[in-house]
Amino acid sequence: MKKILIVLAVALVSALTLTTMASANGGPHGGFTPTTDACAGCHRTHTANGPKLLIINNTYTLCMTCHGNTGTGADSNVIDGIWLEGRNPTDTTGDANTAINAPLLGGGFAFYKTIATTSNHAVQETTAAAWGNGVNRGVTANLAGGNMNCASCHDPHGSTNYRTINVTVNGVAVNVAQVDEGAAKDYDTEQWGAGQSALCAACHSAYHQTAAGSGSDLGMVATGGYTHRVDMSYTYAGPGVPNQNPETVGLAGLTLPLAQTGTVNAVVCQTCHLPHGSSAAMTGHANSGVLPGNTSATDSALLRLDNRATCEVCHQK
Ligand code: HEC
Ligand code: HEC
Ligand code: HEC
Ligand code: HEC
Ligand code: HEC
Ligand code: HEC
Repeated sequence: MKKILIVLAVALVSALTLTTMASANGGPHGGFTPTTDACAGCHRTHTANGPKLLIINNTYTLCMTCHGNTGTGADSNVIDGIWLEGRNPTDTTGDANTAINAPLLGGGFAFYKTIATTSNHAVQETTAAAWGNGVNRGVTANLAGGNMNCASCHDPHGSTNYRTINVTVNGVAVNVAQVDEGAAKDYDTEQWGAGQSALCAACHSAYHQTAAGSGSDLGMVATGGYTHRVDMSYTYAGPGVPNQNPETVGLAGLTLPLAQTGTVNAVVCQTCHLPHGSSAAMTGHANSGVLPGNTSATDSALLRLDNRATCEVCHQK
């Protein structure tokens, strides 16, 4: 009897998980029923062309069949960084809340806001070397899973995290709260919850410094140099107090997003950086070197805004 109850409990938990997944992730990502057809969209059992039984011998190319600039299976065109409603008429995920032709929240791999990108994350499996990956800031070390692709950050089968972010990234457990899932999904307004920096910290651990005053703390030198603090509220009483809410007031029409808006107002990695790619222009002093430590006209370090507007919107010096 006890055994049957345990089996029933396990079955119920699985059923609940499936139900939650169904409302939590868009497109073919998760929410699978016992008789789902979804697997066949990406896998072949005996005649696969790629490892992990994938129909295409490259994860990036597989994602592009739907999310690419000529993809037909998803409204989000991550290459041009734009929402093209109607590319997948049978899937309504995000349609109600995302404006047609809106720039995507992740940025774009080739274009962002119709301008060619000046930096992007290398998702075509060309490198595994990430800055501050268990080593000092300014130094690179290889990722545990080898060269980076889309699935290094996203789980194509859905996940309990925001935007199907993997629950394990680079061997590190990652928890990013879901904030606009289900019918409320919105791909053009940031609504981040807790843990938004956790994804970045999984591969760039040395950049995740959260103690007050890390920009003047001598202890930081041994980890790669003094560094800007993250995951704090934008309002504080230290040196260089930010003038006003960078998200709601901004500066000259420029704004920067915060996480947990209204409650914590946290400055996270994505307040300054885009995860996919950016077309920000780097000129003058912002175009005077190679990374780490300085941007150039051909490497904008995924920064959201031109030059150092990412500093001025908050500090207004
Ligand atoms: C949108 C495309 C897509 C769909 C739909 C999909 N998969 Fe996958 N699957 C992938 C990719 C890409 C990988 C490789 C991920 C990686 O490299 O980390 C993978 C890996 C796997 C793996 C091995 C790694 C792991 O996560 O355990 C299994 C097992 C698997 N898929 C089973 C399934 C089954 C069963 C279904 C249907 C319920 C399914 N997949 C639906 C794309 C997909
Ligand atoms: C470095 C981690 C990372 C990699 C690599 C990555 N993504 Fe993302 N992606 C994110 C994050 C973080 C978001 C959430 C952006 C937000 O809401 O602010 C996102 C959002 C998305 C979205 C929702 C639309 C949007 O732009 O907000 C889609 C679709 C997507 N990614 C697909 C892909 C595909 C396809 C690839 C490979 C070509 C890829 N991602 C590679 C981190 C990544
Ligand atoms: C068969 C088509 C198809 C394939 C292949 C596909 N996707 Fe999607 N994906 C969709 C659709 C449809 C949505 C819903 C939003 C939209 O229309 O863009 C979506 C949404 C997403 C989202 C947003 C999830 C959320 O929580 O809001 C991410 C991230 C994503 N896909 C990543 C990927 C990655 C990474 C791959 C490759 C491993 C991939 N997709 C392959 C069709 C696809
Ligand atoms: C799966 C591991 C992984 C994750 C997660 C990840 N990165 Fe990266 N990142 C890399 C690798 C590898 C590189 C070096 C290759 C490249 O430029 O894409 C890199 C490069 C960068 C660069 C330098 C880009 C340039 O062109 O100069 C910045 C900035 C960056 N990451 C920020 C972030 C932020 C912010 C996040 C969170 C949204 C993040 N990364 C998440 C692996 C990762
Ligand atoms: C979203 C708002 C925001 C943005 C954007 C921002 N800052 Fe800050 N900055 C802060 C906050 C909040 C602190 C206080 C951190 C602390 O409590 O230690 C701070 C602290 C500082 C300090 C003092 C550090 C110390 O510990 O002595 C300097 C210098 C600084 N920022 C420069 C910059 C530069 C340069 C940029 C652009 C790359 C920038 N900030 C972007 C909010 C911001
Ligand atoms: C306040 C804005 C701001 C925040 C927050 C921020 N960065 Fe940066 N990041 C920059 C700027 C600006 C650069 C370009 C180099 C410079 O001027 O220091 C940069 C460069 C980088 C680089 C390229 C290598 C290098 O050292 O130049 C990586 C990797 C990176 N950031 C990761 C992160 C991660 C991970 C987080 C969160 C833990 C984060 N950043 C938070 C502004 C920011």
